[in-house]
Amino acid sequence: MSSSTTRPGPGATVLSLEGVSKRFGAVQALSDIALDVRAGEVVALVGDNGAGKSTLIKAIAGVHTPDSGTLEIGGKRAKVRGPAEAQKLGVATVFQDLALCDNLDVVGNLFLGREIVKRGQIDETEMERQSWKLLKELSARIPSVRIPVASLSGGQRQTVAIARSLLGDPQLVMLDEPTAALGVAQTAEVLNLVERLRERGLGVLLISHNMADVMAVADRVVVLRLGRNNGTFTVSQTTSQDVIAAITGATNNAVSARAHRRSQQEEAS
Ligand SMILES: Nc1ncnc2c1ncn2[C@@H]1O[C@H](COP(=O)(O)OP(=O)(O)OP(=O)(O)O)[C@@H](O)[C@H]1O
Ligand SMILES: [Mg+2]
Repeated sequence: MSSSTTRPGPGATVLSLEGVSKRFGAVQALSDIALDVRAGEVVALVGDNGAGKSTLIKAIAGVHTPDSGTLEIGGKRAKVRGPAEAQKLGVATVFQDLALCDNLDVVGNLFLGREIVKRGQIDETEMERQSWKLLKELSARIPSVRIPVASLSGGQRQTVAIARSLLGDPQLVMLDEPTAALGVAQTAEVLNLVERLRERGLGVLLISHNMADVMAVADRVVVLRLGRNNGTFTVSQTTSQDVIAAITGATNNAVSARAHRRSQQEEAS
C-alpha cells in the first residue's frame, strides 16, 4: 500500500453529497439525496428493496452519472466520469458479486492488474510478502495466500475482495451487502474487518439489510425510502426499532412519538 496520498485527518469529511437525483426512464430512483461520510466513520446505508441504495453507491462509484446534485470527495468538488476515475479519487467499491478470479490464488487476485515488476519480471516473492502483511494488518484468517480463491469460504473471499480494494489506497470504501450470504462466524469476521478499516481512518459506507450487523458496527445509519432521505440516526442514541420505522415509513414510529412527547413536555413546563 502506497502512502503517497495525503490522507484526510480523523473526522474530516471524505464524502459529501448534496441534492443528488437520478432517474431511469419513468423511475425516479434517487431524489435530492444528501449524505456525508467522515474519516474513521462507518455509515450504514439501509432501506427496503428498491429504495435506491445500489443506485446511490453506483453514482458515487462512477457507474451511473447523477442527473443533478454535487459530490465532494476528500473535501474537493468531484465529477466522477467512470469507475477508474472514482478509484483515482480514492473511492474503492466492493460490489456484491466480488468479481474475484476463482482460478487465481489470493496473491494473484490481490495484485491483478497491478502486479509488482522487478527487472522485467513479475516479483512473486514481493507480492506474496505484501499480501501477508496486508492480511495480517487486517487480522484476516486466510490459511494460505497460494491457494485458488475458489477453495476459500464466503467470508474469506469477502476478505480478499476488501483487501484488494485497499491496495488502491482509498479514503472511502463502499461495501454492498458484504455479509448477505455469510454464516454467523464468517459475518463476525467481516464485521471485524470493517472495524479494522475504521481504525485505519477510512470512511466506510456499508449497505446492509441486517439490522443486527448495522447496530453492531455502524456509527451512523442513513435511511433511504422510495429514493429519498428518510432519517439519519446516531447508533449510540437509537434503537433498531427507530431505524426500522424509518425504513418502512411507519408514521407513528418511535422517533416521531418521542419527539411529540418531548414537545408536549416542553409546552407543559
Ligand atoms: N439500470 C437501471 N435501469 C432502470 N431502472 C433501474 C436501474 N437500476 C435501478 N433501477 C430502479 O431504481 C430503483 C432503485 O433501485 P436500487 O437497485 O438502487 O435499489 P436498492 O435499494 O439497491 O434495492 P435492493 O435492496 O433490492 O438491492 C428501483 O425501482 C429499480 O428498479
Ligand atoms: Mg441493491
